[in-house]
Amino acid sequence: MTAADQTTFRADLLRGKTAFIAGGTSGINLGIAKRFTRLGARVAVLGRNPDKARAAAAEIDADAGVSGTIALTADVRDYAAVEAAFAAAVAELGGLDILIAGQAGNFPAPALGMSANAFKAVIDIDLIGSFNLFRAGHQHLNLPGASLIAITAGQAVKPTPLQSHVCAAKAGINILIKTLALEWGPMGIRVNGISPGPIADTEGMRRLAPTPEAEAHVKAVTPLRRFGRTDEIGDAAIYLCSPAGAYVTGTILDVDGGTGAGSFGSPGSLGGII
Ligand code: HXC
Repeated sequence: MTAADQTTFRADLLRGKTAFIAGGTSGINLGIAKRFTRLGARVAVLGRNPDKARAAAAEIDADAGVSGTIALTADVRDYAAVEAAFAAAVAELGGLDILIAGQAGNFPAPALGMSANAFKAVIDIDLIGSFNLFRAGHQHLNLPGASLIAITAGQAVKPTPLQSHVCAAKAGINILIKTLALEWGPMGIRVNGISPGPIADTEGMRRLAPTPEAEAHVKAVTPLRRFGRTDEIGDAAIYLCSPAGAYVTGTILDVDGGTGAGSFGSPGSLGGII
């Protein structure tokens, strides 16, 4: 239990809740999984690599002082594999209260530097993967009251050199979130997005700001002048999933140090993307 848990949220806020977190084996989504588990939720994390999934589940358990976090393996591009992962999760957890589509792929490359398959790989992981998760997970949701979150990014609304694949995928995710919020709201399902800015200790920042110079530049163009923490994305997810967010749906919540509020970056530079 951290000081933040005691001051920010009641320690049992998510007790009795169940959560399925795709991409929960590392980075931002592992941070969300840890925050949820510390506040009493039972969590299943899904990744592509079984060893990494098992290690993440053990890390989440140790962090919260519990046992029973579920490690699942599937490629979100494979609908049948996603369905099987949900079946395995609900066999242990029962119905799902929270479903997070946090999986993502990214590499910086100009459009002329990527093959059609490279572009498609990111669309398939991010956008098609989010649809697959929400579509296959729907039948397992506890209704009314289920909360769905997709992790998007500022590239969804900001054309960004070297990120045509991510821009297109995340823009699709943003409109998917809003459309499903309309279709599923009457069923008692809320659908929202979180748009993180530069977050420390993530694969994304290792790829997009790989040198100390790039890191310094990103901080210099971030209004709050620092990287965010994975637990700060976790706190945003808790807000959206808890009773505090009960009237919020179809929203994209920027948790980005202010980077989405305007462009401080130099146009055309990778630092300008965030
Ligand atoms: C050009 C590239 C490339 C690169 C891969 N490809 N890297 N092309 N430049 N740097 C091409 C490959 O040659 C191949 O095309 C195609 O992409 C698919 O690659 P595979 O390795 O076969 O696919 P796969 O194993 O499915 O990997 C998908 C991936 C990979 C996206 C390419 O990077 C990945 O798995 N990433 C997951 C982890 C990740 O990226 N996390 C970061 C998320 S960060 P050909 O034509 O040769 O077949 C994030 C943050 C965004 O999303 C916001 C930040 C602020």
